[in-house]
Amino acid sequence: MTVAKPSSRTLARAAALLARGRLVAFPTETVYGLGAAADDARAVLALYAAKGRPRFNPLIAHVADVAAARRLVRFDARAEILAKAFWPGPLTLVLPRAAGGAVCALARANLDTLGVRVPDHAVALALLRRFGRAIVAPSANRSGRLSPTTAQAVQFGLGARVDLVVEGGPCRVGLESTIVDLSTAQATLLREGGIAHAAIEALIGKLAQSGSAIKAPGMLASHYAPRARLRLDAKDARSGEAYLGFGALPKLANDIPALSLSPTRDLAQAAHNLFGYLQTLDRAHVQCIAVAPIPATGLGAAIRDRLARAAAPR
Ligand code: TXA
Ligand code: MG
Repeated sequence: MTVAKPSSRTLARAAALLARGRLVAFPTETVYGLGAAADDARAVLALYAAKGRPRFNPLIAHVADVAAARRLVRFDARAEILAKAFWPGPLTLVLPRAAGGAVCALARANLDTLGVRVPDHAVALALLRRFGRAIVAPSANRSGRLSPTTAQAVQFGLGARVDLVVEGGPCRVGLESTIVDLSTAQATLLREGGIAHAAIEALIGKLAQSGSAIKAPGMLASHYAPRARLRLDAKDARSGEAYLGFGALPKLANDIPALSLSPTRDLAQAAHNLFGYLQTLDRAHVQCIAVAPIPATGLGAAIRDRLARAAAPR
């Protein structure tokens, strides 16, 4: 595996690798993605294998602009409004797939719907334009582990399973995209993420919450798991634990590793830091990471969602 700065030579090399069915990790504004050519079933098969991902879990197709998205899925009025408001950006729309759309059945897990998004990252967009085809990209981590927000985290988690990592610094948002299912009359929130659901509801009305049925199969209860256990809504940490705070840190014993997601209680900053800080504290080899209460407003909903999954029994 090579990690390379995003020069035009690197992008040419990345596009050539993708065209040959190889895997390329690249930065987006949310997390790093592990990319494969969306229309290449053999490449997609290799992608599922590299992640250790169950094949019933469909991938998101990334495209450079709305015009490219229209070739893959059928837009309706709600999709037009949301794409206009939030693309490029951390929103994935699940829509009925277009006849003749180029995403292979394996990448769609054989569904008649497809998740698409236009990422808001100069390197991702440059790669998509250079490659000229859709790129399917799950987060660039082994299935069930924390999503990577730096090239180093990709390297650490996937190693030789990826051919090239295009370096793009830390991801701005730090949490995956919000996923909205528009394939049915009632729009449904499938995953909290980088865009607060209230901002979406302000434009297209109330979203249904995805029920217990696993509509987005990646949303299995235990996900984003660090090695350590997590103890949520904790006001302090005991001996043998680490502490992940929000706001000013409480007084803690000297031997307790501690970080604050945002000393100023800024939820965007907390989202940006979340996966990296969890990884850092996990590397201190504590039994348990105690995590401060996070407000459920705005981006806090997505942060709480990821923490609950990381804390779920496995
Ligand atoms: O921010 C993101 O979305 C990142 C970056 C790399 O773009 N990607 C990402 O992909 O988080 P992944 O594969 O880790 O999560 C995609 C989620 C999964 O939970 C999957 O089940 C769901 O999207 N999904 C994809 N296509 C779907 C569909 N047609 N219907 C329902 N859920 C779908
Ligand atoms: Mg993922």
